[in-house]
Amino acid sequence: MQDPHSAANPAVAKAVHLDLTLDVDFDRRTLSGTALWTLDLPRGAGTATFDTRGLDITSVDVVTGKGKSRAKYRLGADAPILGAALNIEVPTGARAVSIRYKSSPNAAGLQWLEPSQTADRKLPFLYSQAQAILARTFVPCQDSPGIRVTYNATIRTPAGFEAVMSAIRDDEVTSLPDGRREFRFSQPHPIPSYLIAIAVGDLAQRELGPRTSVWAEPSVVEKAAFEFADLERMIDTIEGLYGPYAWNRYDVLVLPPSFPFGGMENPMMTFATPTLLAGDRSLVNVIVHELAHSWSGNLVTNETWNDFWLNEGFTVYLERRAVEALYGTSVARRQWTNARRALRGTCAAMSATPADTHLRLALAGRDPDDGMTEIAYEKGALLLRRLEFEFGRDVFDQFLKAWFATHAFGPVGTELFLAWVRERLCAGKSERFAALRLERWIDGPGIPDDAPPEDLGVLDHIESQVASFNATGALPSAEAWSTDEWLRFLDLIDPNVTRAQLTLLDEACGLTLRRNAEVVARWLEVGVKHELKSVYPRLESFLMEVGRRKYLKPLYGALALVSVSGLDLARHIYARSRPGYHAISRATLDKMLGFEGGGF
Ligand code: BES
Ligand code: ZN
Repeated sequence: MQDPHSAANPAVAKAVHLDLTLDVDFDRRTLSGTALWTLDLPRGAGTATFDTRGLDITSVDVVTGKGKSRAKYRLGADAPILGAALNIEVPTGARAVSIRYKSSPNAAGLQWLEPSQTADRKLPFLYSQAQAILARTFVPCQDSPGIRVTYNATIRTPAGFEAVMSAIRDDEVTSLPDGRREFRFSQPHPIPSYLIAIAVGDLAQRELGPRTSVWAEPSVVEKAAFEFADLERMIDTIEGLYGPYAWNRYDVLVLPPSFPFGGMENPMMTFATPTLLAGDRSLVNVIVHELAHSWSGNLVTNETWNDFWLNEGFTVYLERRAVEALYGTSVARRQWTNARRALRGTCAAMSATPADTHLRLALAGRDPDDGMTEIAYEKGALLLRRLEFEFGRDVFDQFLKAWFATHAFGPVGTELFLAWVRERLCAGKSERFAALRLERWIDGPGIPDDAPPEDLGVLDHIESQVASFNATGALPSAEAWSTDEWLRFLDLIDPNVTRAQLTLLDEACGLTLRRNAEVVARWLEVGVKHELKSVYPRLESFLMEVGRRKYLKPLYGALALVSVSGLDLARHIYARSRPGYHAISRATLDKMLGFEGGGF
């Protein structure tokens, strides 16, 4: 299976282990050092190909039993998204290649933050985000999810910093004669390159349980420990459903607010946005989701980004099952119901490009980031829900457990999934399999009509309250509402309600000043659509601080559409916030708001 987003040719030379030695330079905003790659060379010799993007390659050596010598290498043409292939001639007898290099200050996979962009404003901060194909911007690697490697790393930082990685950290930290610090890491399980991760900053750790802890800046770590107190129980729950946790430890790192995602499932060390710290544990499903990737995604991995749904759809399904076991059926049912509504909206919004609503994608020639839509997540999860209902929960759980056990530390593709459904769920019976007509899910658009019926009962009370609010402005009795109840309510507010009605709602329920970012963001969106000026100060401070793309897109989008002055305001705020946003969020918003060549 050739990965359209990687130049690597594992049939000739496959990377199996990485020894990484890097210096972290905050002044120059570079990582520099060597990537020593142990290779598997089935034909004994040939060209080893690595993906790179924006790397400055200083020298390349080959390592044989007898020692090191200069290698012949060639850097291919540079393409905008894929970067440049690094081709190294590997002679017979070679075991490894050693690449000396430096990352660019603009590496899209790294974000270098000023102290002012951190919670404690004391030290600068660095973090990486490699998924989908950004690892190549800070390590030359075979950047395909179908290729797995173990790694060891030695990381040198200035004095006063802590470094963490998606790996086990040595207890011992060495202080070098010049005051710099040296950290050592090892990832003994083979992982795809998109799970290589590093963060460096002023970090503190708080133990939570025998195999869990949280990391964050000192002023944030106690809040994080409170919010994520259930970590150990979360692991136990998923283990009970789908088999043992394969990764020794599970820690969560809470990053500064510019982190472009809710969470990223870096093995042993989930990276998370501080917007999860609602103070009442109401957004922990995101952590359940990232933890669930320890089975779906990190253990059993989509072989190319065309099969992204096998990572994310499976993970959303596992997330909801774990939420159900941990927090109750009605919480899980509300999440399914809200997600279904969102999926319907996404499918409608994507009706001009129906092929993007298929589960199996064709991303060759495109940025794999284009495949990161609600489809992989919610249509994928819904297909598994459909199969659960068809075959019964017990049978389906055994199926999933066997899927993870059989394909552990390996790649999976959509064809394999279909073969498994046919053999294991349909007992090899072709008619039974054909009757499922899975091709409508896999290679067809939208939500097929055999999708499980929508479970409206759990949010009925919201529908009736929002109906009276819309009609008369009657305020809801919302004291004990959960995130999902609020999201439903805010979603169903009529475009014709008056600003006076909304002002009364805000005064009664304190929406603008809430700590739950999910609710605040949705409320601000309602405010923007009604040009409710009283929310604009909060809107502006939210956009200036938070870099999570999921919130930026709808908020800037709503501003840009609501009026000419809304678009002006969007551009004004964006011009000021943009330097603080991550490259991933910037790429999306530049396109959306027409920011080109450094200005509007
Ligand atoms: N792996 C994803 C994040 C990702 C996907 C990064 C594709 C880069 C490319 C992560 O597991 C994720 O899905 N995060 C979600 C939260 C989740 C609860 C849906 C997010 O960040 O919002
Ligand atoms: Zn995910």
